[in-house]
Amino acid sequence: MRLTVIGTGYLGATHAAAMAELGHEVLGVDVDPDKIEALSAGRVPFFEPGLPELLKKHVDSGRLRFTTDYDEAAAFATVHFVGVGTPQVKGSYAADVRYVDAAITELSRRAVGKHVVFGKSTVPVGTASRLQQLASLTVSERARQAREAGDTQAADALENTSIEVAWNPEFLREGLAVKDTLEPDRVVLGLQKPGAVCDGAGREAEPAAEAILRECFAPILARETPIIVTDTATAELVKVSANAFLATKISFINAVSEICEAAGADVTTLADAIGADARIGRRFLNAGLGFGGGCLPKDIRAFMARAGELGADQALTFLREVDAINMRRREKAVDLVKESFGGSLLGHTVTVLGAAFKPNSDDVRDSPALSIAGSLSLAGAAVVVHDPQAMETAKRVFPTLDYAPSIDEALAGTEMVVVATEWQQFRDIDPVHAKSLVKRAAVLDGRNCLPTAAWQDAGWEVTSLGRG
Ligand code: UDX
Repeated sequence: MRLTVIGTGYLGATHAAAMAELGHEVLGVDVDPDKIEALSAGRVPFFEPGLPELLKKHVDSGRLRFTTDYDEAAAFATVHFVGVGTPQVKGSYAADVRYVDAAITELSRRAVGKHVVFGKSTVPVGTASRLQQLASLTVSERARQAREAGDTQAADALENTSIEVAWNPEFLREGLAVKDTLEPDRVVLGLQKPGAVCDGAGREAEPAAEAILRECFAPILARETPIIVTDTATAELVKVSANAFLATKISFINAVSEICEAAGADVTTLADAIGADARIGRRFLNAGLGFGGGCLPKDIRAFMARAGELGADQALTFLREVDAINMRRREKAVDLVKESFGGSLLGHTVTVLGAAFKPNSDDVRDSPALSIAGSLSLAGAAVVVHDPQAMETAKRVFPTLDYAPSIDEALAGTEMVVVATEWQQFRDIDPVHAKSLVKRAAVLDGRNCLPTAAWQDAGWEVTSLGRG
């Protein structure tokens, strides 16, 4: 099958390479010429394990190409996936859908024939239905203008043109993006209501999205991956609900963590014990600095904003609390570091291990690690940061912090270590060797990821979140 993937960030670039891996001819489209140049040369402009190999394989095989040209995209294929960003609007909780709108508009201005667009971006419920109207209106307007201009051939073609907008949300996790795309837990497909898809003459068009998606994902579906076919509103809501649930699960354990701190209990053992109940499950019950990244924080906020627009804001007010619990963990960590120095950070050196919002990623968007490093610095500490992959992305956001090129250099002469991202490299630190480097052997385990007893045996004062 020939298809395009519009938007080549984490989601789009991974989807494009994965589609080529499934045997399709893929054209990746993005408005950013630097990104397209890098990807065309087989270079991934961010850190994602396994993706560079897959990209190179298919750029070399000729099955995967990239362009900034929408004319080329509309001519190349009649099947399109849209994976552009939907960031948080500045000064509001709502999602900014301008890039999704632009992708559909650009395609609708050029497409001729029967096209199907699968939206993958996370969008407010109702977006797919609005985009369907936008696409159908644009096509019928083009047909009308061609007829008026006397261009019979173009008018005939446009009157037989239709764009079906379906929604196929993506659930990939950064760091595991390739695996999650090629081996998803489930495929969700949202289809327009009957009568919603019209051609340039205003006639109802035959829906084609389901058959096309099944063909496109055939190797995935052959493994009996569940596919849930529903309406677009449900599909859109599946995605934000899944992220809201995950965020709630993390904040739940972090709220319990606050109680553990007050009561002298251990949240890690507690999580093991409640997680052993199959109805609850142990995953996403790791207490610590909480969630960050480009998805969970902005998705729960956008979900609340959309609920408000729909007059159902009460339904999601608990997500405010989820957000607040999450942000409180960052403050708590900063307070614990201050306390460890008797209240003031002035003149003290603190090492923050981690800048990425989670391991195996160089993404620092809304990263708890970087937020803590920034707060400690603003409170007067000399902050040294080390991250195995996110040094460059972190420097762009926080150029004023000190960045050490290795763990040893980050530890040299420091008075306190904060483990803020649970990279394997940090779990593997030898506490005896580390102690020989620092000025004061105090560590805050912000992710409950260190072998506490080994660090204590080596003479470290260990502080953990939610553990007595
Ligand atoms: C998330 C969703 O998991 C994914 O399905 C969706 O498509 C995009 O958003 P991602 O942002 O890559 O994926 O990260 P995820 O692995 O979900 O972790 C999110 C944050 O939660 C990280 O900052 C992580 O450190 C934190 N987290 C996760 C915890 O604090 N505790 C946990 O137990 C799990």
